[in-house]
Amino acid sequence: MLRIGHRGAAGYAPENTLSSIKKAVTLKVDFVELDVQATKDRQLVIFHDRRVDRLTIGKGAVADLSLADLRRLTLPGGHAIPTLEEGLKAAEGKVGVMLELKIPGLVEPALETLKRSGFSGSVIVASFFHDELLHLRRLQPKVQTLALLVGQPVTPAGFALEAKATHVGIAFDTLGKAYVDALHSAGLQVFAFTVNEPADIQQVAGLGVDGIISDFPDRIQK
Ligand code: G3P
Ligand code: CA
Repeated sequence: MLRIGHRGAAGYAPENTLSSIKKAVTLKVDFVELDVQATKDRQLVIFHDRRVDRLTIGKGAVADLSLADLRRLTLPGGHAIPTLEEGLKAAEGKVGVMLELKIPGLVEPALETLKRSGFSGSVIVASFFHDELLHLRRLQPKVQTLALLVGQPVTPAGFALEAKATHVGIAFDTLGKAYVDALHSAGLQVFAFTVNEPADIQQVAGLGVDGIISDFPDRIQK
């Protein structure tokens, strides 16, 4: 059972910050999940929301702001919005990364950033944009990719097989034993997100998933 820290370890430190990644490292996660977006000047940053309004005192969409604009904004506690490169540096040599591409068009810049940073740990590239994962597969035949889904499709594994993904990440309240078994039969690794309550973690673990994504990754038994 893999333990994946959601947005770093968002239950313990402001989400998607270097502090959150460092906290996840101290909790000995297998992977940190990080949300990736691009600024107006095409710099990759780690940030979840499309707009900065909820988490900072600023306003506007990440895609309409430059990296310099974002650098002037801070999260509660004075934490900066990190670049992807800074996030990879914080994880290097310690934990794997699960990079969620939040918008289309990030495959090439994400690959370039991974290469430039020399990140040597395990990488899983995740997205709700399954055609982006297929595009990535064509560029990198061996990369691990994870197709995200909230729901239970008629054909359980079809969406992930079409994307040539190695993993799926399913919203835990739409998972069930037969669904997990069908995904496994199709050769897919199954992660559940975002599971925080101990009783839910226990229930989802009982379905036989391969990994759990949690804001509180220390609550997941190995
Ligand atoms: O890892 C999957 C999960 O992070 C997707 O949902 O909204 O937390 O990015 P969200
Ligand atoms: Ca995410």
